Amino acid sequence: MAKDKLYIFDTTLRDGEQSPGVNLTANEKVEIAKLLSKMGVDICEAGFPMSSDGDFEGVQRIAKEVGPLMDGREKIGKPMVICGLSRATKGDIQRTYDAVKYAPLHRIHIFLATSDIHLEYKLKIDRAECVRRAVEAVAFAKTLCDNIEFSPEDAARSDKTFLCEILGKVIEAGATTLNIPDTVGICVPEEYGALFKYLRENTPGSDKAIWSAHCQNDLGLATANTLAAISNGVRQVEVTINGIGERAGNTSLEEVIMALYTHPDHYPVYNDIETTHIYRISQIVIQRSGMPVQPNKAIVGVNAFAHESGIHQDGVLKNKLTYEIIAPELVGVPSNNLVLGKHSGRNALKNKLEDLGIELSDVEFQKFFLRFKKLTDAKKTITEQDILALAGDEVINQDSLETYKIQNILITTGSDVLSTATVTLVDTSSPAEESEGEDEEHKKSEGKVLVDAAIGHGPIQAAYYAINRLIGRNISLKQFEIQSVGAGDDALGKVFVRISQDAEDKESKSKQFAGHGTHNDIIQASVKAYVNAINRMIEVERKN
Ligand code: KIV
Repeated sequence: MAKDKLYIFDTTLRDGEQSPGVNLTANEKVEIAKLLSKMGVDICEAGFPMSSDGDFEGVQRIAKEVGPLMDGREKIGKPMVICGLSRATKGDIQRTYDAVKYAPLHRIHIFLATSDIHLEYKLKIDRAECVRRAVEAVAFAKTLCDNIEFSPEDAARSDKTFLCEILGKVIEAGATTLNIPDTVGICVPEEYGALFKYLRENTPGSDKAIWSAHCQNDLGLATANTLAAISNGVRQVEVTINGIGERAGNTSLEEVIMALYTHPDHYPVYNDIETTHIYRISQIVIQRSGMPVQPNKAIVGVNAFAHESGIHQDGVLKNKLTYEIIAPELVGVPSNNLVLGKHSGRNALKNKLEDLGIELSDVEFQKFFLRFKKLTDAKKTITEQDILALAGDEVINQDSLETYKIQNILITTGSDVLSTATVTLVDTSSPAEESEGEDEEHKKSEGKVLVDAAIGHGPIQAAYYAINRLIGRNISLKQFEIQSVGAGDDALGKVFVRISQDAEDKESKSKQFAGHGTHNDIIQASVKAYVNAINRMIEVERKN
């Protein structure tokens, strides 16, 4: 059977970034986009340029720095298409074009709601006006660029005959991809598949465009719906790493890719994703977004390849095929074996980083080597998982995320007593104070040194209260999660937090910010995560 190419459209940096608390810096977006490109993603939706200056900068940098890259794409033969999302207005479309135009291959993705509920209550327009706006927007975008995607938002709840009408008109105006979003995640697979069959059969000019699926996961059916869409003629799927996205998230890239991989005869499509990159990029997205995946998450959760029961373990030992449908190596899950130790030098670490596909500049490597050496003092066996966790924690140039640097933490704690934390931070946005120069410790400081102490019910609360006092803000902790990297009493601890600044107006809901920290001491990991979230909050304030 001749197979069609299935285009993989990754929207981790746009729809994924719309997850509560996720605020990626432009550096992080570029880092993730590079990994997506190398993995073989065809189209990267890099952001929504009109939504903020920060988003515009991120998309523009990706277009310039990642758009031309061919590394790892020799088989595909062309660089990744860089796409920006846009509302159906000239101002939005122009701004999107100004951000994506630097990429050799670029796309403008226009969306406009088509369901009666959105037309009546959100847009307050009728269907005729909706068609007029869609056609005008696509025609204008076409004057700027050839590659235009149109999404009728809330398509799954829109009237089917109206969809055929508007889609036929936007094809005529120049749309090259038609994306049919299940915006509220309400569809079941048979229904979503049938929608594509109907639209493809009844939309004038339907064979001139590529049909695309975009599913939200509100009913946990995003992957199943996406597969049903492929069976009904869809040749582009919109996905995110780890399935991150608004509410319950989007279709996850790794699930769709591995479902297709394990069923080569079932779907008449092929794709160009290099599956061995999946685990690593999943880990980077976890760290940068501050959104851990649940242990039983398909493909990338810590339990995805763990066999617990005796019968299963016995079967796997005799033959892995008894209980394993995917070899962990196929998705790049690193081994848990000792790989490096106290005596490993720079070369051994460099080689291991290379094996794991981690690329560092010389400056980043020096910093990483010091961190690695520190870890070997506390942990005898350094595994690939540890190296990936450290790499995800702090490697890329994070200067913009270091308004506050942790200099020291002193904790006193015990049973039946309040804990006390004394925290020293350096505020790199303020100059070091004159008098500080007399003291050797302060002389080296990159900013104003701040010291304060607080008490709390436990060391972490005490440390967080001390930090709130130091920075003079009322920060609330919304979520706290701790995971260990591998096993053993010397395992690294990974902490994820979500914070918000208490709104002055008690009624208003304040924005959340995620942060993460990895350390072999879980209190230090907790403080790193909290300070990381605060620094992200400040970065967003600065950009807006
Ligand atoms: O869910 C949705 O409707 C979207 C569109 C903008 C594609 O994200």
